[in-house]
Amino acid sequence: MPRGFFVTFEGLDGSGKSTQLRLLARALSAEGQAVTVTRQPGGTELGEHIRALLLDSRTQPVAPLTEMALMFADRAQSVEQVIAPALDRGEIVLCDRFTDSTVAYQGGGREIDREAILTLHRVLCRDLWPDLTFLLLPNLDVCLARARRRNARQLAFGTDENRFEAEQRSFYERVDRAYREIARQARNRVVTIDGDAPVEEIHRSILRTFSQRHQTAVTNALPHERP
Ligand code: TMP
Repeated sequence: MPRGFFVTFEGLDGSGKSTQLRLLARALSAEGQAVTVTRQPGGTELGEHIRALLLDSRTQPVAPLTEMALMFADRAQSVEQVIAPALDRGEIVLCDRFTDSTVAYQGGGREIDREAILTLHRVLCRDLWPDLTFLLLPNLDVCLARARRRNARQLAFGTDENRFEAEQRSFYERVDRAYREIARQARNRVVTIDGDAPVEEIHRSILRTFSQRHQTAVTNALPHERP
């Protein structure tokens, strides 16, 4: 059965992960590879509604458990409608955020029990995990300043994705710590990237790692020769 290759990009708001995802998608498409690009929250009709609700700073108050439930409602739809079908077609799937974001933001940031999050993942997302995750880790203050500038620009065009930006620095410090803990616990899957390096340099490093890991996965999936 064909099985594609599932890659996620993670990091704080303003970490540069979406730029890197786009650069990798462009490079792979130029090589003629079949690539599906998606994001969470969002990426499906239902998911984009959930995204608008969740990120709009006028949606107040949102209880932490409700926030987590909506993130998983979005993800369950995305797995069923976009990610699993693309993997079944043998495609490369590049997803901007996945369950690591819930572990970092709702687990670390909102201090929800990590085991509860992993249980929801098992039930609602078929316990599907990425083959490879790029975690971008730039300096925290650089990230936050970048995210705030971007959101101010978007606000000027009528898009409000500011709800998370209203959080204190201590919230983002907890998210950052949770991400670093994920990287320690999932060493084989998660590749950490120094997000302060120039964009092109990060892209080259991501492309190199992707090619090695993808090649290994393809080779391992080949039927073994009979003796
Ligand atoms: P982004 O798409 O620009 O990265 O923004 C999405 C925001 O949603 C970001 O602040 C992180 C937050 N988020 C969570 O809190 N939990 C999640 O599970 C996901 C996917 C995103």
